[in-house]
Amino acid sequence: MGDLDVIDRYLQKTQPDHLEQLKELLRIPSISAVPQHSTDVQTAARLVLDTLAKAGLQTEWIETEGPPLLYAESPPVPGKPVALVYGHYDVQPADPLDLWLSPPFEPTERDGNLFARGATDDKGQMLTHVLSVSSWAATGQPLPMQVKFLIEGEEEVGSQQLESYLAKPGVAEKLACDVIVISDSSQYAEGQPAITYGLRGISYFELLFEGPKQDLHSGSFGGAVTNPAIALARFLAAMVDDQGRIQLPGFYDSVRPLELSEREMWAGLDFSEDEFAKQLGVAGLSGEQGFSTLERKWARPTFDINGLWSGYQGEGAKTIIPAKAGAKISFRLVPDQTPAEVARQLHEFVAQHQFPGIKISVRDLQGGPGVVVNPHSPFIAAAQKAIESSFDKQAVLIREGGSIPIVAGMVDKLGADVLLLGWGLNDDNAHSPNEKFRLADFYRGIRASSHLWSQLAEVPV
Ligand code: BES
Ligand code: ZN
Repeated sequence: MGDLDVIDRYLQKTQPDHLEQLKELLRIPSISAVPQHSTDVQTAARLVLDTLAKAGLQTEWIETEGPPLLYAESPPVPGKPVALVYGHYDVQPADPLDLWLSPPFEPTERDGNLFARGATDDKGQMLTHVLSVSSWAATGQPLPMQVKFLIEGEEEVGSQQLESYLAKPGVAEKLACDVIVISDSSQYAEGQPAITYGLRGISYFELLFEGPKQDLHSGSFGGAVTNPAIALARFLAAMVDDQGRIQLPGFYDSVRPLELSEREMWAGLDFSEDEFAKQLGVAGLSGEQGFSTLERKWARPTFDINGLWSGYQGEGAKTIIPAKAGAKISFRLVPDQTPAEVARQLHEFVAQHQFPGIKISVRDLQGGPGVVVNPHSPFIAAAQKAIESSFDKQAVLIREGGSIPIVAGMVDKLGADVLLLGWGLNDDNAHSPNEKFRLADFYRGIRASSHLWSQLAEVPV
């Protein structure tokens, strides 16, 4: 069964070493979106694989056309469930660099936090599971169930390689498991752990509006041709009405409505709109009418402009009609919407919104559908116990608005339950300057994870 007290004492003692291991991984700028960092991505992969091997696992480096996939497993335990830990060793770009208080790839401790790109998303969180498995091995105890690991290096750019890998013959058998364990999300609030039973999906696009063959004098030519920036602005403005409803044709047709029980459950969560707005530095909140802020963030689809450019960006005035305008846009999706269906709807919307003299092109970037799993699964009940023993507090059941594009595909392919056990905090600044991970959460995460294997092992399969 394993002696958890022995493990707890061991974990207490090894905190400095675990912190050092996390720092070492965080020093590697494994930014998957930037081709110049591909060697760093490989270096990070090598370090993670070595750590998995040191945890006593059988490991495998899986080459792909992009960053390698890392696989590891402990010995099978007949009659017990099998867990598959999924995580990612790639990180988002660190810019804007001037807003960081300490350099993004020089992990720095301040006020009980460790600051670095990837601290929470996902190197720190992913490592909690690797270190928990190594704590079982180091205290001479065999794991009470089989634990497999699948760690990728492309989550932040849409998991293309993993998607192709999952489709290969024999892979579903190799990854066969009863439950997929992922720590790449957040607690509900400081001091309030959460188990997440739903994530939104995403559909991401780049738009290019091309007008005249080069920038034109806006005095000589203004009034005679369509300004691509104005066309783009009108196009984007037409995407959402004043009720906050997205105008793609048929966009809401396959949206699964919220359950009354979850609306009630979330209404009971401690949430202050004012404090939330204050935390974000905005004077007020907005969104789709008829839904609360938590509902809008977790369980309703949204449209966002992620980047927007056109014309003169320098100092002072320059009177031109820009030749081009562009935007990066994305839709967060909920079950049962699919990225392919949204792409079709966007193309239809483009056909309906044409402007004289403007050529519109759409580039389809990464995507993945959303997921909602059964919040009453016995694995969730088992995870509750592990979390409570480490965080001294019952976890609340939530959904989250972010996306882990491959999760739905893994669930489909492997037919397993999913446990989204976020150890991070909403103000950890994932994807932003000064990303951090609270050290207390790192250590509690390792402890909760090491208890998790005992609890999951008791679930009948
Ligand atoms: N860790 C996040 C996913 C996440 C964020 C889950 C917030 C729960 C709450 C993940 O690494 C991520 O950022 N995913 C991207 C995917 C996209 C680039 C395809 C996202 O959600 O934007
Ligand atoms: Zn991320």
